[in-house]
Amino acid sequence: MSDTNNVTVIGLQWGDEGKGKLVDALAAVSRYVARYCGGANAGHTVTVGDERFALHLIPCGFLYDGVVNVVGNGVAFDPAVACEEIDALSQRGVKLTPANLRISGAANVVMPWHKLEDELSEQSLSDDAKIGTTKRGIGPCYADKARRATALRVADLIRPDVLADKVRSILNVRNRAFAALYNAEPTDPEPIVREYAEYGRRLAPNVCNTGALLRGALARGERILFEGGQGSMLDIDHGTYPFVTSSSVSACGVPSGAGVPPTAVGRVVGVIKSYTSRVGTGPFPTEQDNEIGKRLRERGREYGTTTGRPRRCGWLDAVAVRYAAELSGVAELGLALLMDGEGEIDTFRICVAYELDGKRIEEYDPALPLERVTCHYEDLPAWKAPIGEARRFDELPPEARAYVARVEQHIGRPVGFISVGPGRHQSIVHHTQIEGLA
Ligand code: GDP
Ligand code: IMO
Ligand code: MG
Repeated sequence: MSDTNNVTVIGLQWGDEGKGKLVDALAAVSRYVARYCGGANAGHTVTVGDERFALHLIPCGFLYDGVVNVVGNGVAFDPAVACEEIDALSQRGVKLTPANLRISGAANVVMPWHKLEDELSEQSLSDDAKIGTTKRGIGPCYADKARRATALRVADLIRPDVLADKVRSILNVRNRAFAALYNAEPTDPEPIVREYAEYGRRLAPNVCNTGALLRGALARGERILFEGGQGSMLDIDHGTYPFVTSSSVSACGVPSGAGVPPTAVGRVVGVIKSYTSRVGTGPFPTEQDNEIGKRLRERGREYGTTTGRPRRCGWLDAVAVRYAAELSGVAELGLALLMDGEGEIDTFRICVAYELDGKRIEEYDPALPLERVTCHYEDLPAWKAPIGEARRFDELPPEARAYVARVEQHIGRPVGFISVGPGRHQSIVHHTQIEGLA
């Protein structure tokens, strides 16, 4: 147990579980909303009435006065995307200022050559080795972070002389590497120096020591909400490597990615959808590459927020989710997309165990050859009518209530919240113990 009233919201599948919507709801009772991992590969959606906001970098606390949105040191920060989002929000009447958007000077910056490398590297791989990245330059940026000599941080971005020197010297190295590896034309550093110096000038007032800011909040007992990106099965260490993203996206990534002690993580809410989706390549044991998968995709309107790609769809994988929940010390679940649209499916299935070479496996192991496992399913009766109007648990059809109860049993955690539609009000507060919402 932790001694804070902080909350961490993470995805327990392969991303797009509905984290944005839950973070928006919990931001109402938080003082800080902080991103600690990933970058503009995330696409988090918040829907309020007829307005739909799809954000990549700006934390999902932006709709509340008095909430400070924090981009932590662990984020791969793309200043071009940040400026674009700030401008787009401003046009919609949402003002982000140095008071309510704080950016870590220690975050690594995604530069144009990272996006180029993401593209060239994917192109050069064979079909079965391609990761299917979002092409946002995430992997190359984190690779440079680890390589150190060719990295650039936000603190460098806001110092024009340092920025110019670094861009020129890094491109000198990267141009030679890209020519040798991919036969690529050299990139001229000068337009990049000018464009990024302008981003630096704009964003400098927002830049601060976010770790100190959050530790101060901790000392004062102000609630921090940590907003996870991606999903635990895409975690660089614990996911379906190498078909993962390049940062620590589970709750284990919060301390280092936000600059807070491990005790700051607080109550961890693991978000899942009632089925599974995955974008990009990589193993997916419960995938339904068939008519059922098509129906799940249509029922949940499963098309990527970042790339617009149709998401691969399949049944809920309780083996993977149980593992992800254990890894992050998940206290309660946020269950989104409870098959709330109308649909022609008779039975919903939950994968309760894998089978590999004749052996039943109930415990996930990241070293499993996941592409070779088959699934043991439990079948549950489906509901076909839409449920988006339900606001209380007892307003759900009995089949949906039974499904939620089975999810709790299989994952071994209570369902705190249920989401029955994209809208802010389309939620059911169930077994949560988060103070202010319970
Ligand atoms: P995130 O990356 O985890 O924040 O999730 P995304 O925003 O990428 O994807 C979730 C999608 O489902 C978005 O289009 C949301 O507006 C939508 N959504 C969220 N919760 C629900 C829900 O309970 N029901 C339905 N039908 N849509 C939802
Ligand atoms: P949110 O926060 C779904 C996936 C990509 C690809 C792999 C690596 O919206 O849940 P990357 O560009 O990170 O190097 O791609 O990870 N991926 C996501 N899938 N939701 C996301 O974020 C994702 N972020 C990365 O599709 O398979
Ligand atoms: Mg998303």
